[in-house]
Amino acid sequence: MVSTSLWMETEIFPEAGGLKGDVHCDVAVVGSGIAGISTAYELCKRDKSVIVIDRTGIVSGMTARTSAHLAPLCDDLMSEFRKLRGAENAKLFYESQAAGVDRIEEIQASEKIACDFRRLDGYLFQGHGMPANIIDQELEAVQEVGAPVHRLVGVPLKGCESRHVLRYPRQATFHPLKYLAGVAAVCEANGVRFFANSPVEEVAERDGAVTLRTAQGQITAGHAVIATNASIAERFQLHSKVAPYRTYVLAFAIARGELPDALYWDTEDPYHYVRLQTGPDDHDFVLVGGEDHKSGEANDADQRFARLESWARELMPALGKVTHRWSGQVLDTIDYAGFMGREPGSERVYLAMGDSGQGLTHGVMGAMLNTALILGEESSWQAVYAPDRKPLAAARNFLRENLTVLQNLAEYVTPGEIASLEELKPGEGAILRRGLEKIAAYRDKAGELHLHSASCTHIGCHLHWNSFETCWDCPCHGSIFAPNGQPINAPAVSALRPVER
Ligand SMILES: Cc1cc2nc3c(=O)[nH]c(=O)nc-3n(C[C@H](O)[C@H](O)[C@H](O)COP(=O)(O)OP(=O)(O)OC[C@H]3O[C@@H](n4cnc5c(N)ncnc54)[C@H](O)[C@@H]3O)c2cc1C
Ligand code: FES
Repeated sequence: MVSTSLWMETEIFPEAGGLKGDVHCDVAVVGSGIAGISTAYELCKRDKSVIVIDRTGIVSGMTARTSAHLAPLCDDLMSEFRKLRGAENAKLFYESQAAGVDRIEEIQASEKIACDFRRLDGYLFQGHGMPANIIDQELEAVQEVGAPVHRLVGVPLKGCESRHVLRYPRQATFHPLKYLAGVAAVCEANGVRFFANSPVEEVAERDGAVTLRTAQGQITAGHAVIATNASIAERFQLHSKVAPYRTYVLAFAIARGELPDALYWDTEDPYHYVRLQTGPDDHDFVLVGGEDHKSGEANDADQRFARLESWARELMPALGKVTHRWSGQVLDTIDYAGFMGREPGSERVYLAMGDSGQGLTHGVMGAMLNTALILGEESSWQAVYAPDRKPLAAARNFLRENLTVLQNLAEYVTPGEIASLEELKPGEGAILRRGLEKIAAYRDKAGELHLHSASCTHIGCHLHWNSFETCWDCPCHGSIFAPNGQPINAPAVSALRPVER
C-alpha cells in the first residue's frame, strides 16, 4: 500500500499557477501549510494585501500528513516543559496553544466551514509497564498551568482498565484539509493571491522591503513570513536547535460506536496515539500513530507499521481492515516550543518553524503572534517562542541532537551500501561510493537510473534512502529530496547535484 493520508483527497486550489514577473504586496507568506494559510487569513482580515507562495501545490507539505489532534498541552509532557522552561513559560505555552484551538473553533464557526470540528475528551494513559508516578507528576504540572484535568483509573481500551489516566476536557479535532480549503477560500475572497509550484530561492531584506526571488519572478513585500516548516531564511543557528523525527500513521475502518470518540495517547517514548475520524455510511476511521525515529536513521517502515498494527489490535479488537498508511516528519525543538516571531537579526522577516507533534496549534497561534508583531502590537506569548531565545537549560538535548550531525558527517568515509549500480533493482535507492564521492542512486520502476550527489544542499550532511516514501531524507535538519533531486522539504532550497553515470 503506497503512502496516502486520509486527508489528501481534498485538493486546495489545484489550478493555482506559478509566479511570473514582479509582484508587490504588504506581506508575502512563503509556505502554504497550516502556518502559512492561517497567517494569510489573520493578515487579510486586518486589511493587509497578502501573497502566499509555495514550492509545490497548496497545502501539500506536512499539514497533509498530520493526524489532527488539537491538544493544547505539551505533547512532551507539561512536567518536562516546566522543568526546562519554568512555570511562567509553561502557563503561557498552554494558554497560547489553547488560544490556537479556540481560534480554529471560532473561524470554522464564523466562516461556516464544514470540517468535522468537534470538542472532545483527551486521555493520557500510563504506557505498558511504565510507572504511575509519571501521571502524578503530570497532574501537578497541568494543574499548575490552570488546565482542566481529572485523574482516573482505566481508559476504554482493552487491557487498560487499571492503567492510571489523566482526562483532559475540551480537546478538539477536525478534518485539517477541509478546514484549510475553507480558510483559503475566505483568503482568496479577501484578495489574497496564491502562487503554486514556485520555489523561493532567496529571501533578502534591503531598503525597507523584503524581496523573495523565484526562477521566474520576484515578490517585493513590506514584510515576509517564512512558514516553510523548517526555515529557508536562516541557514544554521536555529536548525541546530531542532531535530527532525519521522513518524508513522495507520488508518483502520471501524463500525461507528465501537470506540468512544476521544483522543488517546500514552506515556511511552515515543508515544502511541489514537483518534477517530468520521467516515462514510456507518463506518469511521481510527487513526493510530507512533513508532517515531530520528529522520534517516531507520528504513524499516513495514516493521514499524506491523508493530503499530499489533499494538492497536490488542487494545481495540473491533478494528477492521487497514485503509491508509503514511508517514511524515515533525521537528522537535530542544526546549519544546516552536520558533515563532521575528527572525534574529532581521527587521522584516518572521518565522514559523519547529513545532513538533503540535504543529497545527503552533501554526494557528504562530499566525496570531506574527500578525500582532507585524502590526506593531505586543504579545504576551512572544518570549515563549522567540527565535533568539537562549535555551541554556536544554544544553543536554542540544548535545544529544547535534551528535547526529557529527555521526552523519563521519559517514562520508564509510563504504557505500552497494558496490555497483547493477545491484539496484527497479524502485530501489542506495548509496554508492565512487572514489571520494558518495552517490545517491535510485533506479525507477521503468529501470532508469537517477544519480545525484548524496550531500544535502542545506549544509552538506549525508542523505539516507527512504524506501516507503521513495525519497532521500537528511538526518541533520529535516530536508527531504525527491528521486529527481528536487527538495520537497525545507530547509534545503537547491536541488541535489546530478552525477554522470
Ligand atoms: C504524522 C504526523 C502527525 C501529526 N499529528 C499532529 C497532531 O495530531 N496535532 C498537531 O498539532 N500537529 C501534528 N503534526 C504536526 C503538524 O501536522 C505539522 O507540524 C504542521 O502541519 C506543519 O505545518 P506548516 O505549515 O508549518 O508546514 P507544512 O505543512 O510542511 O507547509 C510548509 C510549506 O512550505 C513549502 N515550502 C518549503 N520550502 C519552500 C520554498 N523554498 N519556497 C516555497 N515554498 C516552500 C512546502 O512546499 C510546504 O507546502 C503531525 C505531523 C505528522 C507528520
Ligand atoms: S538539512 Fe541540514 S544538512 Fe541536510
